[in-house]
Amino acid sequence: MNSNIQVMKGVKSIRDIDITGKRVLIRVDFNVPMDSHQTITDDRRIRSALQTINYCIDQNACSITLVSHLGRPKGEYEERFSLRHIQKRLERLLQKRIEFVEDFEASQDEISTCSLERVFLLENIRFQPGEKKNDPELSKKLASICDVFVNDAFGTSHRKHASTYGITEFVDVKVAGFLMMKEIEAFSKALETPVRPITLVVGGAKISSKITLLESVMQKVDKLIIGGAMSNTFLEALGYDMQASFYEKEYIETAKNVLAEARKNKVKIYLPVDLVITDSVDHPIDVKVVPSQDVLEGFSAVDIGPASVKLFQEVVELSNTIIWNGPMGIYEVDRFSKGTYKLAGAIADSYAYTIVGGGDTADAVDKTGEAENFSFISTGGGASLELLEGKVLPGFENLDRVKSEA
Ligand code: ADP
Ligand code: 3PG
Ligand code: MG
Repeated sequence: MNSNIQVMKGVKSIRDIDITGKRVLIRVDFNVPMDSHQTITDDRRIRSALQTINYCIDQNACSITLVSHLGRPKGEYEERFSLRHIQKRLERLLQKRIEFVEDFEASQDEISTCSLERVFLLENIRFQPGEKKNDPELSKKLASICDVFVNDAFGTSHRKHASTYGITEFVDVKVAGFLMMKEIEAFSKALETPVRPITLVVGGAKISSKITLLESVMQKVDKLIIGGAMSNTFLEALGYDMQASFYEKEYIETAKNVLAEARKNKVKIYLPVDLVITDSVDHPIDVKVVPSQDVLEGFSAVDIGPASVKLFQEVVELSNTIIWNGPMGIYEVDRFSKGTYKLAGAIADSYAYTIVGGGDTADAVDKTGEAENFSFISTGGGASLELLEGKVLPGFENLDRVKSEA
């Protein structure tokens, strides 16, 4: 069972190879949550990459190039998504000067020249139109500036992009970083030898990229709690009028399929029974709690209500393994954060093995001060859900293996 995890555990880690004197390219996931002034609100993803970066420095790698995306730009420069916003925090955490590379094509020669102690940070790789298309030309260019490719971007390991996947075709030595190995170990415990019942809690706003996965997790989980904007889509699918709430119309059919799959597999689904609604998300004047059936005309559902919190708390208390991705509401706004924070408290208080994942969800958990009371905080949101599906994540797929299979 879950042999996908065994496959992923079998990749070589950076510790299995010699990187001294080598040019190392590390794909990291610095896609951190930021406020409207581009201030990082949670630097966990940066901190999580430090072990691998420091290891390369300590092993005297001849140059280290860090590659990441930030947000979802459309293949061209956008100031708010520039990795310059990350540079200072990274320098502070690493206690080292980082050289920012605005145009990596123009700087290829400089990066390729061996010079100990230099750490480069490339500008957002998604500013390159070839990144999301997994363009071999971009993969080749990235490969040309390194001898060793280290994938440590667990949060992006479900993406088949040039810097997470395509590059492996053009580099001879490709291994996983410490974070990738740590993450897979934690999920192995939850999924390979699970203590049942297993509850999956899903919320957040990335509906299109996560909802289809839910159809395929039914064999793995016993209970499914759905909140946040994700549940708006399900409630609309049940025939409730969600008014101005954020949901995705094109995925209503998928939501119906998820409900049908759950019935077929005897997986219990819990949706919010009440909601916090507002007349305006940005400038709320009128905020009310209503049954999920009664969202007022022109209002948006922005958090789960107190009755839903109670219901979800009871489910959580009866679970032995809990995997959570996606906030229950717009937790960045104080008035709409209660559902997420209370659920975080309930999961933290439970006696279950608990994994929480996702940039925003981990940020929310940190804000509650409950982070210590989770068994594991994953940097993966969508990636952890795809793991549940039973897939070998593309970011692991082509890495070198410890033993070649017969
Ligand atoms: P993660 O980063 O943990 O994987 P997502 O990126 O999928 O999670 O979702 C996080 C975002 O979801 C947050 O910015 C939050 O404001 C938003 N969100 C949650 N509930 C709602 C809702 N009801 N309406 C609009 N946005 C929501
Ligand atoms: C995430 O935040 O889940 C990862 O960084 C991947 O981002 P993406 O969903 O934009 O590919
Ligand atoms: Mg997010």
